[in-house]
Amino acid sequence: MKILFIGDVVGSPGRGALKEYLPKLKSKYRPDVTIVNAENSASGKGLTKKIYHELITTGADLLTMGNHMWDKKEIFDFIDDVDNLARPVNFPKNNPGKGYVIKTCNGKKIAVINAQGRTFMQAIDCPFETLDDLVDELRKETKHIFIDFHAEATSEKLAMSWFLDGRVTAVAGTHTHVPTADERILPQGTAHITDTGMTGPYDGILGMEKDTIINRFRNGLPARFEVTTGRTQLNGLFIESDQQTGLARSIKRIQINDDHPFFD
Ligand SMILES: [Fe+2]
Repeated sequence: MKILFIGDVVGSPGRGALKEYLPKLKSKYRPDVTIVNAENSASGKGLTKKIYHELITTGADLLTMGNHMWDKKEIFDFIDDVDNLARPVNFPKNNPGKGYVIKTCNGKKIAVINAQGRTFMQAIDCPFETLDDLVDELRKETKHIFIDFHAEATSEKLAMSWFLDGRVTAVAGTHTHVPTADERILPQGTAHITDTGMTGPYDGILGMEKDTIINRFRNGLPARFEVTTGRTQLNGLFIESDQQTGLARSIKRIQINDDHPFFD
């Protein structure tokens, strides 16, 4: 199975970069499924109904989220009406929405799970225990399992990939917005990257206006962060898995910006 994953889409510049590059990436890689992390897609924080549909229309089959899940209050009005949206599976059990989506794309069935880390983040259920049980359950239905692990600490993301090695197709880190260069296939066949990187402004800080953040570091005063403008970037992954075992055969990092231009 061919999986295209696009890292955290930030605000309208991120959505613009997705519109610009996704058709080109699809014609280059011919993915069976395209997954997009959308937790920052509405002005940097959260997701609206309009943007959910915009991202699906742009070419995403499924959207994953993260710690900004509930930042746009209208999410509560539509989350249970949409099919292709996964929120962190280890959020409290009484939260609306679902933590994974099983979907058949190009005749191939995939389970996409969104999970969130706990180190330097909100205290939620243990992602290791949650995924340990869930992965065994989902493997009865499909061996193709993609996990977007939204976490702050590099160690927690690496630990999750090693923990699940051989049981899932891929564990792709998100949240820190800076792509790491450690993409690899672990010995038992699970593809790993510590962070996929973001899609959106290229000259800001994690997508936000840089002077506000520099000032925040210098004076420690509260400040409102805004998505910045200007040049854009797209970061993602292309993973191919064995149709029988669901294990990864290859993982390629996709990095598009003015310093790494897109080539057909
Ligand atoms: Fe995040």
